[in-house]
Order: sequence, then structure tokens, then C-alpha cells
Amino acid sequence: MTASDLNQCLDCSACDLAKTRQTVVLSRGNPDARLMLIGEAPGAQEDQLGIPFVGRSGKVLDRMLSEVGFNLDRDVYICNAIKCRPPNNRRPTKNELAACRSWLDLQIALVDPAVIVLTGSTAVEALLGRRDAMRQLRGQWQFWQGRSVMPVFHPAYLLRHASTDAEGPIELTRRDFTVIRQKLCEL
Ligand code: URA
Repeated sequence: MTASDLNQCLDCSACDLAKTRQTVVLSRGNPDARLMLIGEAPGAQEDQLGIPFVGRSGKVLDRMLSEVGFNLDRDVYICNAIKCRPPNNRRPTKNELAACRSWLDLQIALVDPAVIVLTGSTAVEALLGRRDAMRQLRGQWQFWQGRSVMPVFHPAYLLRHASTDAEGPIELTRRDFTVIRQKLCEL
């Protein structure tokens, strides 16, 4: 299993999203990072550029990661649960998640991260098969195949709920990423 196995994903036609995508969106960041972050799916800008989290959500995510002390080029590998944009940015279907799952598993095996962050409920569903409310799940360590996994709110949710209250989603997410950073120091 090598990075060139992952490149075969660029020709994937396992589901109908292959018919409407512009590009397959694999990853950005460091493939040797100890932290892997999994989002939902590419949006319009990601689909055009072939890079995950380059739109408004990505800006929020990058700011949050930088504020808690992560170096975006060195410390994190960023990808999505599915690699092709769903039309109109709808939520990926169960079939699409299943069709893309082997690519996600391959990315996890290649990067071999100490900690995985799941941003939003689709990433939680894709990796853990759970559909719990994010309000219950965020900030709670999960364990999956020997790895520490932390669900956090999706950055698009933070854009929609922009309150800076101490108990609001932005501050809670900042706390979650601080806990994640501490965990990486301990492991
Ligand atoms: N962009 C991505 O790449 N993933 C998301 O989940 C949202 C926006």
C-alpha cells in the first residue's frame, strides 16, 4: 500500500458523483502529520481547485487551527469523508459514503495519524457509523481501531452560529482543539 495506490482515486467512478465532479479532492497538509482532520465533502471551490477546505469553512478552520498553535503545513493532514462534490452541496448519501470508504481507509492507513478529528456529523457517520447529535458527541474522545478520535463541530456550523459566548460553538470548538493539541503532546 503506497501513495500511488491513493492516486488511483483520481480515476474513481465508484458512484455517480464521478459524472458531475470537476476534480477529485484528496487532501492538503502533511501526509506525515500526527493529526488527521476529516471533513464532509468538497464544495464548489474545492471542486474547482482540487484542494479540501479552501472556501469560507476552510478559512474558519485554518484560523482555529492556527490560533491553538498548529502549523497548517507541518502539523495536520486534511481530507474529506468523500472525495467528490455532491451536486448543490447536499449531504452525501449512505451509498456515496460507502463507495468512498475504502479511499478514506487508505488515507488513514498511509498517514497513520495518532489523532483523528471528525468535523461534523457526516464525518462521524462515515468513520464511526454513528448518527448522534454533534452537541452530545463533540469534545468526547472516541476510540476507533486503536486511534484517538475527536468529533468537533463543522466549521460551516461555526459560520452559522457566530456567537463568541463562552459556551457558544466557537469557544467550545477552540477548547476541543486545545484538548486535541494537549493529547498529541501526551501521545
Ligand atoms: N470544504 C471541504 O473540503 N469539506 C467540508 O466539509 C466543507 C467544505
